[in-house]
Amino acid sequence: MEIVSTFAEARERAAGHVGLVPTMGYLHEGHLSLATEARKRSDLVVMSLFVNPLQFGEASDLARYPRDLCRDAALAEAAGVDVLFAPALDEMYPTEPVVRVDVGSLADVMEGPHRPGHFAGVAIAVTKLFAGVRPDSAFFGRKDAQQLAIVRRLAADLSLPLDVVGCSTIRDAEGVALSSRNIFLDEEEHRAATAVGRGLMAAADAVEDRERSGGALEALVASAIASEPMLRLEYVALASAHDCSRLSRLDEEAFLATAVHVGATRLIDNVHIDLRDGAFVADRGVRLDGPTILEAN
Ligand code: PAF
Repeated sequence: MEIVSTFAEARERAAGHVGLVPTMGYLHEGHLSLATEARKRSDLVVMSLFVNPLQFGEASDLARYPRDLCRDAALAEAAGVDVLFAPALDEMYPTEPVVRVDVGSLADVMEGPHRPGHFAGVAIAVTKLFAGVRPDSAFFGRKDAQQLAIVRRLAADLSLPLDVVGCSTIRDAEGVALSSRNIFLDEEEHRAATAVGRGLMAAADAVEDRERSGGALEALVASAIASEPMLRLEYVALASAHDCSRLSRLDEEAFLATAVHVGATRLIDNVHIDLRDGAFVADRGVRLDGPTILEAN
């Protein structure tokens, strides 16, 4: 695996079908599963690693975001990445960008109001990665369901010539969706966070038992969260996977998403709901059967 820091170097390596895995580093099995999927579908796998300041609201959140290039490089190489593209700030943003990517109403719901400017920051970073690396496919986790919907729409609305591939959420052995932020949870907080996964799994079962009411599905998640006093619910919403609008009835591809606070940490999670041959099928994610690499640190 090569580590490069400029778009020109990343592009020079392009050969055949290029798969891009955009990340902010501090890799866990979720990122590695994207690299594995990219490996299956591409001749060259490029993983980008850039902690994008434009998508962080508070400077303190940006400052405490974990970073470790050596650790990430070893994990990326083992997962089959060919090129690790780790640009410095002035490669990504040689000047403060004046032209921005407006994601419109997609950012007005769920995560958007709680993280002003976040999706605009994601959109410009992703657009620059697509333009600079020029991948044929780009791989994103379903864990960030609203981000995935926005990136899909960005690629479609701007006619960007690439496939956006959504991959299943990876969960730890207790069912908590993997996130680099999980390292901030202490043992009690982690135990409390398992209620989120339980609520979502109950809703996934209900979907497959033909529950179609958005309110009823949301209530299943909310009641599991309410049963855990350490959790504070921010929102739970059944949303369209096409435009992120709230659905009162499940009648298209969707995701049931939630955000909770546990201690000083904010967690998001969801189940993606596909429509296959006229039937709704929930993607519950993939549960690891042992400790995560995040726990090894
Ligand atoms: O999901 C992430 O890690 C980031 O939002 C992304 C897509 C790499 C853009 O900075």
